[in-house]
Amino acid sequence: MSHITSIPHLPEIYRQLLDAVDVGIHAINSEGESIIYNRKMSEIEDMAREDVLYKNITDIFLFTSEEESRLLKALSDGSVHHNAKQTYFNFKGQEITTVNDTFPLFDKGKRIGAVEIAKDITKLERLTRANSRDKQEARFTFDQIIGETFAIQEVIDNAKRATRTASSVLIYGETGTGKELFAQSIHNGSERASRPFISQNCAALPDSLIEGILFGSVKGAFTGATDHPGLFEQADGGTLMLDEINSLSTSLQAKLLRALQEKSIRRIGDTKNRSVDVRIIATVNEDPIVSLEKNHLREDLYYRLSVVSIVVPPLRQRKEDIFILSDHFIKKYNERFQLNVPRIADEVQHLFQKYDWPGNVRELEHMIEGAMNLIHFDEEIDYSHLPIHVRTKFPVHNPVAHKPESLVIPLSPPAKTLQTYMNEVEKIYLEEMLQRHKGNVTQAAVELGISRQSLQYRMKKFEMDSKR
Ligand SMILES: Nc1ncnc2c1ncn2[C@@H]1O[C@H](COP(=O)(O)OP(=O)(O)OP(=O)(O)O)[C@@H](O)[C@H]1O
Ligand SMILES: [Mg+2]
Repeated sequence: MSHITSIPHLPEIYRQLLDAVDVGIHAINSEGESIIYNRKMSEIEDMAREDVLYKNITDIFLFTSEEESRLLKALSDGSVHHNAKQTYFNFKGQEITTVNDTFPLFDKGKRIGAVEIAKDITKLERLTRANSRDKQEARFTFDQIIGETFAIQEVIDNAKRATRTASSVLIYGETGTGKELFAQSIHNGSERASRPFISQNCAALPDSLIEGILFGSVKGAFTGATDHPGLFEQADGGTLMLDEINSLSTSLQAKLLRALQEKSIRRIGDTKNRSVDVRIIATVNEDPIVSLEKNHLREDLYYRLSVVSIVVPPLRQRKEDIFILSDHFIKKYNERFQLNVPRIADEVQHLFQKYDWPGNVRELEHMIEGAMNLIHFDEEIDYSHLPIHVRTKFPVHNPVAHKPESLVIPLSPPAKTLQTYMNEVEKIYLEEMLQRHKGNVTQAAVELGISRQSLQYRMKKFEMDSKR
């Protein structure tokens, strides 16, 4: 038996030593079973040692598909990580974020295990504070919010009125609809413009950290706690944007409500209150009514926050704006990439009107940026420049009709029989032709070079309606 696998029978002196140090230590053997799990690690991950030791790491912790266990990775491919942030879940469903060193363990040149050393949590706190400092600048103003439809203009007017006061604002909108844009514009349009704008995502971090980040702490409040002001104090006189507030725990929501009502906060571990003057702009990416029903949002906090309520409509409800937004983004990336892309081809504009834009304006921007990365000579953005997930959704758009050379046949997934594929193409083409002739079957048949009866037969076969 190697030294490592014999560690369970570690001399008492080493065992005590491991528990005395102030870093978390977690080691696995070549089977992926935990053989060392010290006191600090069990504190950081909020797991009892008995629940972890001698069990396979994948039975105890859940890693996301993008981020596998670094311990297992170090074991399987020998990779080494320093100061790397990692987020995963323990079997109680709690999210854990640590900053680790991870490396393989060797015996006679053979990999026999791996160890993870988790740094003191304050390190992570510094990291998250630096992270929120990056976001402290509000760049956007109302004139950068693009959109001419009544739906968006109405929201802009509403938001502009909110610049005159310091009332709390609740913004609801799907991902990528421009919530951050609105929050920054409100701040920059208000008397607070010269004061800080700080934004914090409430879903990105575990509750225990968020509380310290929002309200601050005093030295000794918890292991490794230092004297530091929270975001409320840092945003004093300015605006604090709290993103995805519905993901805060109810107890933290209660603390937040108290801070809003009393206009003061108390740092963790402190005995005195400090008064703060902060405007709160909160966002939710779920309908607030649903949030209330599901108890993701406390009712009392909701009423406090929604003094001004702004609902940003999804892009699919203001599709006319796609034209002007596309032009805006083409201009933006022409400048950035030193290109002269003139426009979006008609076929793509047409398809953009049909698409439902689950990622909203952000998705549109990314699609245009992506397309412009593919362009060689200042051509139009055409079908072939669109991402594969959109092309598969709209297979062979406008087949043969306009640009046979740009015909893109999605080969995967899933493969189809020739007949199925030909039927799909035929149906789309017939629909196009009928649309072009405003549902007039006789005229469409002439252009298609088939008899009226033949077209009617096909329409019946494909269950098509000439009026659509
Ligand atoms: N009306 C608009 N005009 C110009 N750009 C916009 C508009 N709406 C959104 N954008 C752009 O789309 C991107 C996403 O916007 P933003 O970050 O404000 O979305 P969000 O609603 O906060 O999304 P999430 O819920 O995912 O945080 C940004 O790059 C922003 O500049
Ligand atoms: Mg946002």
